Order: sequence, then C-alpha cells, then structure tokens
Amino acid sequence: MMSILIAGIVVLFLTLPTHAAEMPSPDALTARMGTAPQVIRVHEPHLSVGGRKVAIEYLGYPAGEVLSKILGTDWRGRAGAVEFRALDGYVSRIDTARFGPGHAWLVFARRDGTVFTVDNLGQNQLGVPLGPYYLVWDNITRAELFAEGASHWPYQVVEISLFDGSDAALRPDGLDGDHGAAIDLVKTNCLSCHKVNGYGGEKFEDNLAALAKARNRADFLAWLLAPSRLKPGTTMPPLAPLRAEAERERMAGAIYEYLEAVPVVDPGS
Ligand code: HEC
Repeated sequence: MMSILIAGIVVLFLTLPTHAAEMPSPDALTARMGTAPQVIRVHEPHLSVGGRKVAIEYLGYPAGEVLSKILGTDWRGRAGAVEFRALDGYVSRIDTARFGPGHAWLVFARRDGTVFTVDNLGQNQLGVPLGPYYLVWDNITRAELFAEGASHWPYQVVEISLFDGSDAALRPDGLDGDHGAAIDLVKTNCLSCHKVNGYGGEKFEDNLAALAKARNRADFLAWLLAPSRLKPGTTMPPLAPLRAEAERERMAGAIYEYLEAVPVVDPGS
C-alpha cells in the first residue's frame, strides 16, 4: 500500500508541469526517457563553411520529447517560445512553432565517442565544448534549415524554460510601416546575443536600436556582413554566412532599416 502511494507521488512529481528546469545529467535523462539515446546525423553548421557540408552524428533525444518529459506534456500550449540557457548566461529563445516532430534534438555526445566539442569556424573559436547539451536540427531531412546556419543551435545548455512574454518591445508605439519580415530576421540572427528595447539575449546591455542609429548604413552593413574583417578575432558571427551574397546584403539592409525606424524605448535596456 505504502509503496503504491509513494510510486503515485513520484509519478505525479515527474509529470507535474513546470515553467523552468535545470537539465538533468545525460545518465539521469536516459533513465527518465526510458529508451536508449538515438543517433541523429546533421550537417554541422559550425564546420560547414566555404560551400562544404560536414556531416556529424550525435547521440541524444528528440527535443520535443525531452521538453515533454521535463516541462510537462502540454508545454507547446503554454508558451510562445522556449529558452535555452547556457553555462555563460547566453540565452537562445526559439519559437515553439519551430519544434515540429523530429526537427530538433538535444544531444550530449558524438556517436563515435570522440570529444564533444566543435570548431566554431564562423566565430574564430576552436574546440568549443558543447556539453552538457547541444540543440541540433535535422537539416539533412529538412534541407531548408541548412541555410539558417547555426543561429538556433545553442550549446552548453544547462537550463530550459518556457517564455510566455510577448515580443511587443520589438514593435513599440511610433514604429511606422510593416517590419514583420525584418523583425523575424533580427529575432533569428541577432537576439540570441543582443537586445532591442530590453527584448533578447543577456549577453549585451546595449540596445541594438540605439547602436544602429549611431552608425551610418554602409558601416553598419559592412559590420554585419563581415565583422572579423573590421575586427579580427571578434566572436560576433557574420550574418547568415551560408546564404548568397546578394541575399545577405538584402537581409542586412532590411535589418538596418528596421533598427533605424524602431523607437528607442529605453536606451539602457
Ligand atoms: C553570437 C553572438 C552575436 C550575434 C548572433 C550577433 N552579434 Fe553583434 N556583437 C556580438 C559581439 C561579441 C559584439 C562585440 C564585438 C567585439 O567587440 O568583438 C557585437 C557587436 C555588435 C555591434 C557593435 C559593433 C561596434 O562597433 O561596437 C553591433 C551594431 C552589432 N553587434 C549588431 C548585430 C546585429 C544587427 C546582429 C544580427 C544581424 C548581431 N549583431 C548578431 C555578438 C553577436
């Protein structure tokens, strides 16, 4: 009787919906998932530069299933985005709608057992540790994801949480015109590191809307397209390096026009 009661409490505890959770260790996660880790083969965006596609096989679980186990099975209905927090405080906020079945995986090892690191060629960092968890996307089955590069691939993930706040800060009163497409570009390519009016990653204090207004268009575009040409060794990645040059310039231009237009609500945020 007592053991049934305890088992019931344990089950209740494991499935209770929660808003934020630290990731368990890979061993503990494997125990909770109840199945062996699976192999996922991806074109590793950090290594796939200069027109090459480098395939790597990782071990882990489908991200949607991990989120269901850790945050509760109704997580999709409870938030517009999922946040992945890294060891250094880097926060990657990814729209819930992107997590279709089998699209994303949380991995914790390479299949071949070699060291769980990657060379981040776009950001001039070699041997970057990926653990405890790395979010990867099946960009082989869904080849259209390959062109997005590494923008939704946070590594060193230690905590996941649901973000149900709104992105209204990106569309404050006084913003004229339709910048929807540019706002999506900024969310995908910039806001894991930077903020606009307080909305975005925790890595930098400065408001991108204010930074853009302090620069002219040509300088701003030159910086986005090739940061390391202007500042060798910088860890800011070039904008969408896997896309064609004309497309990159168009994207950078749209981002600049939006950042120019968006009112600075609070320069310090
Ligand atoms: C992976 C993190 C990361 C992403 C993504 C990122 N940046 Fe940056 N950004 C940085 C870092 C790091 C610096 C500081 C550069 C340095 O000092 O090396 C920086 C600096 C800047 C600066 C200031 C440059 C200066 O002159 O001081 C601007 C403007 C900027 N980023 C705009 C953007 C825009 C726009 C995007 C999206 C297209 C973007 N960044 C994406 C990391 C990032």
